[in-house]
Amino acid sequence: MNALEIKDLSKSFRSNFLYKKTTILKNVNINVKKGTIYGFLGLNGAGKTTTIKCILGLIKPDHGTIRLFGEEAEKVSSRASIGFLSESPYYYDYLNAKETLALSGKLSSLSNKKINERSAKIISLVGLEGKENLLLKKYSKGMLQRIGLGQALINDPDFIILDEPFSGLDPIGRKELRDIILSLKAEGKTVFFSSHILQDMELIVDDIGILRNGKITKEGKLKDMVKKSIKNPVSYSLEDLFLKEITK
Ligand SMILES: Nc1ncnc2c1ncn2[C@@H]1O[C@H](COP(=O)(O)OP(=O)(O)OP(=O)(O)O)[C@@H](O)[C@H]1O
Ligand SMILES: [Mg+2]
Repeated sequence: MNALEIKDLSKSFRSNFLYKKTTILKNVNINVKKGTIYGFLGLNGAGKTTTIKCILGLIKPDHGTIRLFGEEAEKVSSRASIGFLSESPYYYDYLNAKETLALSGKLSSLSNKKINERSAKIISLVGLEGKENLLLKKYSKGMLQRIGLGQALINDPDFIILDEPFSGLDPIGRKELRDIILSLKAEGKTVFFSSHILQDMELIVDDIGILRNGKITKEGKLKDMVKKSIKNPVSYSLEDLFLKEITK
């Protein structure tokens, strides 16, 4: 069974000027296998965040279907299986890490007992031990990214969506994030993330999908694509593959 199945997803936005419609997504199809890590690629403005917002139900598609673990994504039970880190998260400066996780836990209707259990595990997983009582206004960008990942995991989600999770992280932070994503996969979770940092993506993804001109122009196992490219010595890394795909 696929963890995520998007069929013929289309979305256009009406600009204020003359109410002209701009189509951002044109019959997008995406298949993410359960228990895998999927890298979602595309240039700035390609429509990655728009796709993610459609999966989350934050915006309504013009048409198309989205299923999570075989169920319609709009169902409450489907939503409950999702964890999400936004590309531009908003945090309350005057809460500390523990309080931030508790707030997310409450929003997910978790009991206080569950929140305490989960937040202790998460603080250690995202490497914020010793900083859990510090106000978020005193956090660095990298620390905020960690707590953002933490709040995405509070409800122990089976499907984790991370929009640009590597942005703003130093090399050690990136390595640790790769390890966390791999540990989530080892627990049987499915991770879907967008990134422009292709070196990180290449190290951990099973499958990739490239969004270009509103369509998925390439999707499949990274290994197969890179292997195919080795025969053609012009292209053999994910970066080469991506550049070739978006400029052809
Ligand atoms: N609410 C909106 N109203 C009008 N246009 C929008 C809206 N949201 C997004 N867009 C447009 O849709 C296009 C795709 O935006 P989106 O944020 O999905 O891109 P992206 O692939 O996530 O880019 P990036 O890599 O920069 O994050 C852009 O041209 C953007 O201006
Ligand atoms: Mg985006």
